[in-house]
Order: sequence, then C-alpha cells, then structure tokens
Amino acid sequence: MSRLLRTLIISTILGASAHCHESPGMAYGFDTIEPSPNLTWTPCFDDFTCSRLEVPLDYSNTSLGTTSIAFIKLTGKNATIESPSIVLIPGGPGGSGVDLILENWFLAAQAFGDQYNIVSFDPRGVNNSGLSFDCFSGNKEARSVFLRLHSTGATNVSSASLEEQYYSSSIYGEWCNNAVENESPHGYFVTTAASARDLLTFTEAEAELAGRSPSEAELWSYGISYGTVVGATFASMFPDRVGRMVLDGVLDAEHYYNNDWRDSVDQMDEAMGKFTTRMDALILQLQNHPVPISGVQSQELPALVTYSDLKALFLETIYNPPALFPVMADILHKLERGDASPLVGLFDGLNSIFDARLAIMCADSYPNNKLTTIEAFQSFVEFTSSESKYIGDIWPIFQANILCRSFRPHLPDSMMVQESISGLGNRSSSFPIMFASNTIDPLSPLKSAREMSSRFAGSVLLLQEAVGHTVINLLGSDCYFGHVQAYFQGTVPPSNITCEQQHMPFA
Ligand SMILES: *[C@@H]1O[C@H](CO)[C@@H](O)[C@H](O)[C@H]1NC(C)=O
Ligand SMILES: *[C@@H]1O[C@H](CO)[C@@H](O)[C@H](O)[C@H]1NC(C)=O
Ligand SMILES: *[C@@H]1O[C@H](CO)[C@@H](O)[C@H](O)[C@H]1NC(C)=O
Ligand SMILES: *[C@@H]1O[C@H](CO)[C@@H](O)[C@H](O)[C@H]1NC(C)=O
Ligand SMILES: *[C@@H]1O[C@H](CO)[C@@H](O)[C@H](O)[C@H]1NC(C)=O
Ligand SMILES: *[C@@H]1O[C@H](CO)[C@@H](O)[C@H](O)[C@H]1NC(C)=O
Ligand SMILES: *[C@@H]1O[C@H](CO)[C@@H](O)[C@H](O)[C@H]1NC(C)=O
Repeated sequence: MSRLLRTLIISTILGASAHCHESPGMAYGFDTIEPSPNLTWTPCFDDFTCSRLEVPLDYSNTSLGTTSIAFIKLTGKNATIESPSIVLIPGGPGGSGVDLILENWFLAAQAFGDQYNIVSFDPRGVNNSGLSFDCFSGNKEARSVFLRLHSTGATNVSSASLEEQYYSSSIYGEWCNNAVENESPHGYFVTTAASARDLLTFTEAEAELAGRSPSEAELWSYGISYGTVVGATFASMFPDRVGRMVLDGVLDAEHYYNNDWRDSVDQMDEAMGKFTTRMDALILQLQNHPVPISGVQSQELPALVTYSDLKALFLETIYNPPALFPVMADILHKLERGDASPLVGLFDGLNSIFDARLAIMCADSYPNNKLTTIEAFQSFVEFTSSESKYIGDIWPIFQANILCRSFRPHLPDSMMVQESISGLGNRSSSFPIMFASNTIDPLSPLKSAREMSSRFAGSVLLLQEAVGHTVINLLGSDCYFGHVQAYFQGTVPPSNITCEQQHMPFA
C-alpha cells in the first residue's frame, strides 16, 4: 500500500533503487517476458532477474486455462544453485512484492544474509500478475463520483455519515461484479488460497530448476502483515511443505477470513503515546471549525481542512512512529499556529480505493462476511471508535471492508480455504513457524500474534520492543535479525524472547 507520508520517508531512509543507464536486453517491466510453466529468469531492473510463472486459473479444473504470476529475484552475493530463496510475501491485500523488493532490496539483503536469494512476487490480481481488473472498466468519472458519495470522512455514528457510507457502499461491489461479468470472467479467482497454492507451484518449479525433487520441495518465506495470512494459509494447506516461515506483523487469519477488522484497533492509541494532549486540543478545534484555505496567495486550488484530514494524519503516522512522529510534530506545530496547509488533501490521499485489494479481501471473506447490515456496520464503528479515540472513527472508511457487502464472487470450492483456518490442531508443520511482532503494533496487535501462535503447534513468537507496524518496516534490532538468521539456519529460538529496542526514535 503506498501512502503519502510513509512512502516519502521510507524511500529517503532506505534509498530507492534507481537505474541510470538502461542496458539492452534488460527488462524494465514484465510485458516483454514470456510466461512459462518453468521458471525462466530474465535479467531485469539492472540488479534482478524476473520471471512470469504460468499457473492454472483453477487448480481443480485445469481445462479453464492459465494465468501468470510475476516473480522477481535478488540473487544472494554468496548464493549457490543450492541456496534457498526466501520469498517475501507482501502485505495488503493488494500489495506488490515486486515494488517491495525494488524499493527495499538493500534492507532485505542485509536482514537475511548474503547466502540467500531474496524473491518476491505480485499475487494474483496485483499489478504485474494476471487477473487484475478495473472495477469501473476505465470509467474514471464513475469512480470519482462513487468516491465522492462514499468517502465522506471519518464515520460518525451520530450523524448521517454512517447511513451515507453504508448505503453507498453497495455501489462499488455492483461495478466490480459488472466488470467481472463482462470483461474479466475470472477476476475473482484471486483468493488467498489460490495464491498460497501458487507459492507451492513456485517452490516446486524452483526445485525442478535446481534438479531437486519437486514433490518434496519446501517453501522458505518471510510474510509481512497480510502476507502473514498467506503464510498461515499455506501452512494450513501444506503443513509438510514448510521449510522456514517467519510471519511478521501478524493478522488473525480467522478474523481476516470473516472480514472482521476489529482487532486492528487494539493498540492504536497506545502507539500514539505522548502526543495525546496536543492532539486532543487540535481534534476539538477542527471538529467544530474546519479551516478554509483560499489558495489566493499561493495560486493553488481552494481547500477546506477538516477533522478527517487530521485523523488521516494520525493514521498515516502510526504505521511507523519512529520515522513519522517528527513529521507529525512539525505539522501539529504549524497547525497550532494557525497554518493548516500541510493537511490539505490528506484524507483524500489516504482514501483511494485499490480494486485488487478489495477483490482479494472480499472474495476471501465472501462465505463468512457478517458485515452486511447497517446494524453490523454501526456496531463495528462503535467498537473501533470506543477502542481508539485517535484512529477509531477513521479506520472503518479507510479499511473499507464495508465495501465487500455487495460482492458476488461465485467461486468454485477450490478457491476457498476448505477447513476453518484455525491452525494445525495437534499436527505440526514440517518446520516450526516463527511468528514475530513488535510489542506495540497499531495495525496488527500483539494479541493476534499470540493467538495465531497458539493455533500452530510447535510455533514460537519472537518479540521486538518497538512501536509500529511490522518489525521489518521499523528496521529491527541486531538481536531480532540475529534470531531470524539463526532460524533460517535451523535454530528455532524459545518462544517469547523480547529483543530490546536498538534504533531509537528521533535518532
Ligand atoms: C519445463 O520443464 C519440464 C520438466 O522438466 C520439461 O519437460 C519441459 O520441456 C519444460 N518446458 C519448457 C517450455 O521449457
Ligand atoms: C471445468 O471447466 C470447464 C470449462 O468452464 C467446464 O465445462 C467443466 O464443467 C469444469 N469441470 C469441473 C469438474 O468443474
Ligand atoms: C560464502 O560462502 C562460503 C561457502 O559457503 C563461506 O565459506 C563464506 O564464509 C561465505 N562468505 C560470506 C561473506 O558470507
Ligand atoms: C507495477 O509495477 C511496476 C514495475 O514493477 C512499477 O513501476 C509500478 O509502479 C507498479 N504499479 C503499481 C500500480 O503498483
Ligand atoms: C458527530 O455528529 C454529532 C451530531 O451531528 C456532532 O454533534 C458531533 O460533533 C460529531 N462528532 C464528530 C467527531 O465530528
Ligand atoms: C489434540 O490432542 C489432545 C490430547 O491428545 C486431544 O484431546 C485433542 O482432541 C486433539 N485435538 C485435535 C484437533 O486433534
Ligand atoms: C508467552 O507469553 C504469553 C503471555 O505472557 C504466555 O501466555 C505464553 O504461555 C508464553 N509462552 C511460552 C511458550 O512461554
């Protein structure tokens, strides 16, 4: 997910990979790469190799044809043909693993060690992979009108916004259903269960290429945020094919499959920490008095800065407080002195709706989605608002899970997770899963990591003392990556080790 502030900061911290001279024969995209059922790696983006892996649309009915999944690989400096590839499973849903690697390769290589290849991919329906579609079929005007009707700001259960957002939410699914029906007949074949199966196909293709037996090939992976749901799903479906699996920033997979995003608010206010008194005053001020920005002086368009723009700032910030608190402090300082201009457009920027994200999320939760009535929506908003004073009322419109209510995916059983994703019962995976969490994670709270770990027999939990979403996004400590590297080498740490904070905020 690209976010205004966060993207800015992350690319300055990590240094985006920029290519200066385009060399001939080097691919700078996936269009020129032929899909193949075997992994054929083509040099791409200067420092990487890329492949489009052909996979069945539906594993239970290969007569339906195939689609392709975009993979990208950073070959380890000290890797050999036998070296395992660690697959980074991106967040989202809807996040691009290709972008993740292109933007953060430097960090990933450092974090895991030079003896591994680092691989990532765009899951089905995302960016460079097959099955992506536009819910509004290119009708930009319809999309922007829908957004105007639906994205009216923070949800207020005591005002008309609740009803407006609830009733308008059905429009989106109708457009998506229509696009699938008329243009992308398999547009909803993008479920997490299918993606997990694609990862097995990749793992087997890689073994084949290295001359190993595909039927015994095991996945090595590091899942991030929603990627932890993909990982947990893979481990439930193929417990014997888990080589190594670290799941960082853990979502409760069962709640995810129920379209239940209540847990996310659990540690949000804790993450806001010491700013709260200043924020309280500003919230009160903007709630009653939006600030007009005429644009006359600056020759820019007129704007009105509202309570929702301030809430959007908070939501942006809690992804990575150590990096973003200084930016927020600066903005709050300006606001206290009457300059609201840094907040212009923040809510609108936050709230673009990604079709890939909704297609995956809504197809996954279709059989169990309870968020379909106005009463359920109200109770969801009441819950999040009461749990988090700072983020709770902006979370529902941002998370956008209400939009799932009119999706009609009509998927074959093979696309869905068959048994409830309650872990493995008493069976163990072929290698223990390592769950990882910051002590305060404002979007995937520690309690979800504990819950998931309790469901996977033999798994352990590794904690990093820090505030923010996923350990890897916050640059984990040497202690943390030491344990991760030892784990990849085969040493599972005891559960509940807590690594001390090393990279201090505001450093
Ligand atoms: C893919 O691999 C299989 C098994 O090794 C082989 O039989 C087939 O010829 C390969 N196909 C292509 C297009 O390279
Ligand atoms: C497989 O797909 C084809 C083409 O849509 C369909 O005719 C056939 O009934 C399907 N087979 C099964 C077993 O679902
Ligand atoms: C590279 O791999 C070789 C053989 O596995 C090992 O001896 C060497 O220490 C490694 N070098 C680095 C820099 O990791
Ligand atoms: C899709 O991928 C290409 C190259 O990998 C990248 O430049 C582009 O920004 C991506 N687009 C989106 C919408 O993620
Ligand atoms: C919610 O709406 C009520 C009724 O219109 C209003 O009194 C209250 O200030 C609103 N709350 C926020 C946070 O804007
Ligand atoms: C797990 O093992 C316990 C004790 O051996 C047993 O009571 C329980 O039914 C088992 N659970 C499952 C899901 O097999
Ligand atoms: C880890 O800590 C939690 C919370 O204190 C506790 O419930 C759990 O039993 C601990 N697990 C192990 C393996 O010690």
